[in-house]
Amino acid sequence: MHDLRWPTYAPRNLMLESAVFDDVAPGRGSLRVRDTEGNVYLDAVNGIGCLPLGHAHPKWIAAIEQQMRKLVGAAGTFFTAPQQQLAGELAARVKLKDARTFIGNTGTEVTEAALKLAMRASGRDIVMVFERAFHGRTLGALAMTANAAYRQPYVACIGEDRTAFATMNVVRARFGDLDSVAALFEQYGPRIAMVAVEPIQGEAGIYPASREFLVGLRELCSRHGALLGDDEIQSGSGRTGKFLAWDTLVGDDPSLQPDIVWLAKAVGGGFPVAACVTTGAHAEHMIKGSHGSTFGGNPLACAAAVATLRIMDEDGLLPLAAAQLPALQAIAAEDPEPRVKDVRGSGAMIGIEITGDGQPAAPLGDAMQRLGVLVTVCSGHTVRLLLPYHAGANELRQIWSTLRRALA
Ligand SMILES: Cc1ncc(COP(=O)(O)O)c(C=O)c1O
Repeated sequence: MHDLRWPTYAPRNLMLESAVFDDVAPGRGSLRVRDTEGNVYLDAVNGIGCLPLGHAHPKWIAAIEQQMRKLVGAAGTFFTAPQQQLAGELAARVKLKDARTFIGNTGTEVTEAALKLAMRASGRDIVMVFERAFHGRTLGALAMTANAAYRQPYVACIGEDRTAFATMNVVRARFGDLDSVAALFEQYGPRIAMVAVEPIQGEAGIYPASREFLVGLRELCSRHGALLGDDEIQSGSGRTGKFLAWDTLVGDDPSLQPDIVWLAKAVGGGFPVAACVTTGAHAEHMIKGSHGSTFGGNPLACAAAVATLRIMDEDGLLPLAAAQLPALQAIAAEDPEPRVKDVRGSGAMIGIEITGDGQPAAPLGDAMQRLGVLVTVCSGHTVRLLLPYHAGANELRQIWSTLRRALA
């Protein structure tokens, strides 16, 4: 098919048309989609982790419809109830002192917000990030992203000797290696504004950090006066069974919390919404005019996110999300597949690593699609599942048997 969009994606040969409602339990969202030729697929992509309730959850639709009839747009200079409700719902879940939130539309936009906040709150000018990290595609967030092919020719980081539109004050440590973090603090300490980390690296191939590493980052940041930034865009909003992957991996000890947390993807239930949450004291540094967004915090998006968060609680979805990884690991143990090297992640953020040279998982996206299951592949070696939270053993069994057939 001739694509009228920019050719920035490697397109899958598939035109999606609609969610499928034939076998959806009452009060749940759909787990399946249909293409324009009438083929039905189990959807483990979900807009890359944007549909925690599944497609078209009835209460989510009702909340959006209701708000659409009332008020859709409002400039950021005005208060609206949905915007204050969303900030309140987030403050109840992200346990930062006197939490205050910037509301945006996409992940990369809230990475930028975190970056600006860190600069202002610390008065410093360098950010430390990690190898294999993904934080977004706009220039600041892109500089924080590891993949050089994504960054060229737009941004270069400290120590990279090449021509680029912008040279950014970003330094990179090794994920999981506190010595490499300590060494960069030795070198740049008084200039480091923030250390930003994905508690589970998503695009890289679903790599959860150890508790020891995250606690060590907290200690090093506190010792050197840097802020600790927690990118929960992919891992947050309940996907691991707690609201933040940080809480799943570290626990909810207030002394071990990050300073800035940012969310997108699942937080809107499928509507584009993103949020950057910090303490009241840090938020004070974002003075008038220091940031803004025309659509950020619009009442419709906020109503969608408020509904998403409340439905997650009312429908008891977080424990269901938590159960997914152990359920799949049990299925894999009962019916082992020699080409699967690892089944890892946390809750409903799952990576299935395939053994083999080169990019052994690369053909599996298309192969599983032909067999009726949609997945994405990360870094060429890992099949990624980002299912709605209520997906359970039946869907995981279907995915496992489809994977085995696709490998055969
Ligand atoms: C950890 C993380 N940060 C940032 C982003 C960027 O989000 P968006 O594509 O909404 O800009 C992503 C997207 O995959 C992500 O997984």
